[in-house]
Amino acid sequence: MRLDKYLTSCFIGTRSEVKKIIKSKKITVNNKIILQEGFNVDELNDIVKYDNKVLIYQKYYYYVLNKPSNYVTSTDDPLNKTIMELFNDLPTLLIKELFPVGRLDKDTEGMIIVTNDGSLSHYLTSPNQKIEKTYYVEYDGILVSNAIELASNGIKTQNESFLPATLSIINEHSCYLTIKEGKYHQVKKMIHEMGGILTYLKRIKINNLELPLDLEIGKYRHLTNEEIEILKK
Ligand code: URA
Repeated sequence: MRLDKYLTSCFIGTRSEVKKIIKSKKITVNNKIILQEGFNVDELNDIVKYDNKVLIYQKYYYYVLNKPSNYVTSTDDPLNKTIMELFNDLPTLLIKELFPVGRLDKDTEGMIIVTNDGSLSHYLTSPNQKIEKTYYVEYDGILVSNAIELASNGIKTQNESFLPATLSIINEHSCYLTIKEGKYHQVKKMIHEMGGILTYLKRIKINNLELPLDLEIGKYRHLTNEEIEILKK
């Protein structure tokens, strides 16, 4: 890969900034100063340094965020705080490449994957894949006595129908609900159809990967390679 492309891919600057950095003799490859922008870097074996610090080249970035309520899951919103603001310690150029996988409502908390990998995002959100998502739910009211059966048969409302889902009751005001699609306000609507009024919603699992227990609300961390594999399975 060309050195200038390698450096922009490491998010150290824009194309024109990177050109200046190369000219200022701050880039070494295998400890030799390189001044040609088109120098061919072997991204697996060469050691590229900027100001004597090793650069790590990564094509894809994968993060898990524990979303707080009051943030929207878009990259840009003129009225609301976006979850991307919670990543503001990353390089600005990297933040611009990242996007959330799927959506959570503004008042929903919990697990959301943020990445620049379009194919993983497509896999996890494609309706054909029927990827399971598990939510912890708190509600007011009383769920109908056959709620578990209703959910597992697939709830139908006047205008919509939902695929079979797994409801597991924790106590009279909380439950887990696992669904295989991601329709607008789906969990809220399903709980409503079963007789409850949702008061709190948190996503705790996507596919086979659980929200890390030690990840504080509003915080994110890199997914490990093992976690990425679990997500893809
Ligand atoms: N279902 C909802 O109602 N809201 C969410 O944020 C996710 C699923």
